[in-house]
Amino acid sequence: MRCVQVTGAQLGLREVTPADVAALHAIYGDPAATEHLPFNPRTPDEVSSMIDEARKEADAEPRRLYLLAATEPHDDRVIGVARLHIEADHPHSAEIGLGLRPDLWGRGLGTDLVRLILGFGFRQLRLHRIWGARSPANVPAQLAMLVAGMVEEGRVRHHVLTPTGYRDSIVHSAISDEWLGEQGQR
Ligand SMILES: CC(C)(COP(=O)(O)OP(=O)(O)OC[C@H]1O[C@@H](n2cnc3c(N)ncnc32)[C@H](O)[C@@H]1OP(=O)(O)O)[C@@H](O)C(=O)NCCC(=O)NCCS
Repeated sequence: MRCVQVTGAQLGLREVTPADVAALHAIYGDPAATEHLPFNPRTPDEVSSMIDEARKEADAEPRRLYLLAATEPHDDRVIGVARLHIEADHPHSAEIGLGLRPDLWGRGLGTDLVRLILGFGFRQLRLHRIWGARSPANVPAQLAMLVAGMVEEGRVRHHVLTPTGYRDSIVHSAISDEWLGEQGQR
């Protein structure tokens, strides 16, 4: 397995491990964090299975799934999660998802997490396009993706089936040369 390790100013990214169940459950098991996600809060067992599945997928060749723990940069405390999934039919393109522990929202960490996963995808994986789909009502995700340089592309009607019915998505994307060029100017 290729071990991912990325260090940013406010956050790091590394591979998830079975020891991360409680930290990831603090996100995926929290009703506030899953309010705009297309599933109900997960149980610790479900989070554990998700980690096991991701670790199996990490061994696939070519690798298409990266489930990464977002950590404090210097003490490895897990405070968030980022997921990058390369499309099988369009391997230049990947979808991202992210989540942070709710008590840490509103401090700019979400924006940093988007920047970190985009930088990883473009610089290390050499992807060309990275996109994310959010609920139309998810304002923090909208702002985090916009501030991190992801352009709003439009609305995909009935994109996901949630426990309460079909839900539209607003898709954001970044293109490698545009995004890397803009980052270089900052
Ligand atoms: C999306 C998420 C990662 C954003 O994290 P965050 O740390 O709060 O993001 P930031 O602090 O960088 O905030 C991003 C922007 O949203 C604004 N914001 C944050 N919370 C807000 C709220 N409740 N209402 C309105 N604006 C809000 C911030 O002010 C900031 O804008 P600014 O840069 O202009 O000041 C976080 O809300 C989360 O984990 N949500 C649950 C999972 C989820 O929805 N994931 C996204 C799926 S697409």
